[in-house]
Formats: sequence, C-alpha cells, structure tokens
Amino acid sequence: MSIILYYFTLTFFLIPPTILSPPSSSPSPSPSATSVPALFILGDSSVDCGTNNFLGTFARADHPPYGRDFVTHSPTGRFSNGKIPVDFIASRLGLPFVPSYLGLNGTAEEMLRGVNYASAGAGIIFSSGSELGQHISLTQQIQQFTDTVQQFILHLGEAAAANRISRSVFYISIGVNDYIHYYLRNVSDVQNQYLPWTFNQFLASSVEQEIKNLYDLHARRVVVMGLPPIGCAPHYLWQYGSKDGGCIEEINDAIMGFNFAMRFMIDQLHHELPDANVIYCDVFRGSMDILTNHKQYGFNITSDACCGLGKYNGWIMCLMPDMACADASNHIWWDQFHPTEAVNEILADNVWNSKHTRMCYPMSLEEMVQS
Ligand SMILES: *[C@@H]1O[C@H](CO)[C@@H](O)[C@H](O)[C@H]1NC(C)=O
Ligand SMILES: *[C@@H]1O[C@H](CO)[C@@H](O)[C@H](O)[C@H]1NC(C)=O
Ligand SMILES: *[C@@H]1O[C@H](CO)[C@@H](O)[C@H](O)[C@H]1NC(C)=O
Repeated sequence: MSIILYYFTLTFFLIPPTILSPPSSSPSPSPSATSVPALFILGDSSVDCGTNNFLGTFARADHPPYGRDFVTHSPTGRFSNGKIPVDFIASRLGLPFVPSYLGLNGTAEEMLRGVNYASAGAGIIFSSGSELGQHISLTQQIQQFTDTVQQFILHLGEAAAANRISRSVFYISIGVNDYIHYYLRNVSDVQNQYLPWTFNQFLASSVEQEIKNLYDLHARRVVVMGLPPIGCAPHYLWQYGSKDGGCIEEINDAIMGFNFAMRFMIDQLHHELPDANVIYCDVFRGSMDILTNHKQYGFNITSDACCGLGKYNGWIMCLMPDMACADASNHIWWDQFHPTEAVNEILADNVWNSKHTRMCYPMSLEEMVQS
C-alpha cells in the first residue's frame, strides 16, 4: 500500500500545460525566437517526458490514462493527461517537442534542437526520492548534459558548439521531491538538524552551484522555476484530512520559504554572472491565481484529482483508465500531485509573456530571448 502511495509522490507539478487551445494557434514564432536553437530541460516529474520509462521505478507515467489528451492520445511518460509546460514553451520558441535523453542514440544530430534530462522523483539532494526506485538526480542530469556538449563539440567544433549552447534556453524545474521525499518524511532526522530556513538555504545554494556548472558549459539563458503550492495537492488534502478542500498551510509555508530563498539566490547570481540571463518564475503565485480565480479560468473542480481513488482522489495514485474522470479540462488536478494540461498551459503562458499573472523576474522568457 505505501508503495502505491509513494509511487506518485515522485513527481509534482510545476508549471503546466493545457488542452484548451491548440498551442500553435496564436504564436507564430517571432523572428527573434528563431534565434533560440535549442531547449534543454532539467528537473523532476513536472517536466519529465519519458526518462523514467527506461528506469526501474514506481514513478512512471507510461500507462493509460496518462497522455489520453496528448496529441498522440497515448502515454508518453508525461505526468499529465496531455502536454506539460515545456511542450508549450518549445512551441513558443519555434522548436519541436523536446526528446528525452534516455530515448536517444547519443548522436549530436538528435540533440541539436534540445534534450530533456528530467526524471520523475529526482531532487536537488541526490537521495531524495530514492525509496521510489531509480531516478536521475539533478547532478547526474548535468553530467548527461556534459556528454551532450562533448557530442556538439565533436560534431560542430568548439566555437560553434559554444555559440549554439549560449543561445539556447535552459529550463530547470526541481525541488519539490526534496520536500515530499526528504524533508517532510524527516529522512535522516533532517527536521531535527535543519530548520526549514536553513534547509532552504542549502537547497538554493546547491542549485546555484549547478547553474554555475551550466554556465561553465556555456549556458547563458536560464529559466529557474520555483515550486508550486503542493500543500493544495489532492494527496496532501487526503493525508492531512482537509475538511473542505482547504490547502495545508504548513506545507505551503515551507514551499514559500524555498521560493523566497531561490529568488534571493538568483538576485545574487546576477551580480556574479553579469553576462548570463537567469530568470526566476514563481509558480506558486501563478497557481494560487488559478485556484483563487478558478471560475474565470473555467475550472469548477479545484481539490479533487481527475484520476485516483479515495477522498479528493488523493489516496491511491492514478493506475488505470477506470479511475479517471470523463473530462479533465474542468479540473485543476490531474492526479494526486500533478496538474492538468489546462493548468500547464496557463502557467507556461505566464512564463512566456506574463499573460495572466506576472510570474517571472526580472523579465519574462519572451523578453529574455529578445534581449
Ligand atoms: C541516431 O539517430 C539518428 C536520427 O534518428 C539517425 O539518423 C542516426 O543514424 C542514428 N545513429 C546511430 C549511430 O544509430
Ligand atoms: C525526526 O526524526 C527524529 C528521529 O529520527 C525524531 O527524533 C524527530 O522528533 C523527528 N522530527 C519531527 C519533526 O518529526
Ligand atoms: C462542473 O462543470 C461541468 C460542466 O462544465 C458539470 O457537468 C459538472 O457537474 C460540474 N461539477 C461540479 C462539481 O460543479
């Protein structure tokens, strides 16, 4: 039983996607957007597009009903009924869907438009999420990117490879599993040793170091996502016995502390790496806007997951089509931890151009790639 419960825990939702409108309907890529040759993605289940299909883990989304509203109407490994945020971002940049690193044959040709290294269950801390099985941690994902850089150098030459990478966008969405699978579970007595504030400082400085490692590999355009309000996720509403669907404040407070530490760290980074463009996007803020103004966005089911079992559908993870609602588009939550495609699209639009809520500081992604 607990295996099933935790299976889900891995991945969370970050920024998400939607099915409401064809993603390519509005934005034909602007001329400057075509100057972004590739999108590289690092993170957890919020942006995993199939990495974990290759791993021995409970954290997999390779079975129906996952993917039922995706363009192929079949599971891909995305933890959503349809698209995830980076699918919408890739369209905005004029790029194809970004392939998962583990599904590639390792040649530069396949990686030139971008690679997705994200792995459900992964955290900033190496061992976060390891009770679920295998995953590729953030540090390992950057090692895989190092391999990609070597392939680019062999294929393009050193100067062209560096130029290509420096014009590419890096999208980092990670950290929630350091709460779900580490801090909140009190692994290694962590709560006794670190107050939330100190733990957040530790996580933020680890991410800072990883961004510097990417910088040394020529990355200059980086999007860092904050964490969503997981205290509002159906699993925690179930676990903490929420009576009326109210969010679990104790969890959201910890998440806000993390987000604060991340934003502060990125402000510092602007001084240390003046020729890099690093933006921080506050998914918490964008998600709370959706929860609060759900009617305007067309959501009338805000606390129950579309797919799952138990109160709020938050007890047992989404295992089979029979467990899913008929229409995910009026739901905020797809499963115990992840939002629907509709939410993912709204959040991706906010990252791109602050369409509904200003989420990214000091500028939006569109402004970044045009600068
Ligand atoms: C790798 O994949 C690309 C594109 O699918 C293909 O053109 C190439 O021949 C493959 N290379 C190897 C070594 O399999
Ligand atoms: C965390 O675990 C340790 C023992 O491993 C325990 O002493 C401590 O009270 C726990 N902290 C919390 C907040 O549950
Ligand atoms: C949500 O709206 C749909 C129609 O859009 C309706 O069929 C459904 O009964 C509503 N559910 C709730 C809980 O209000």
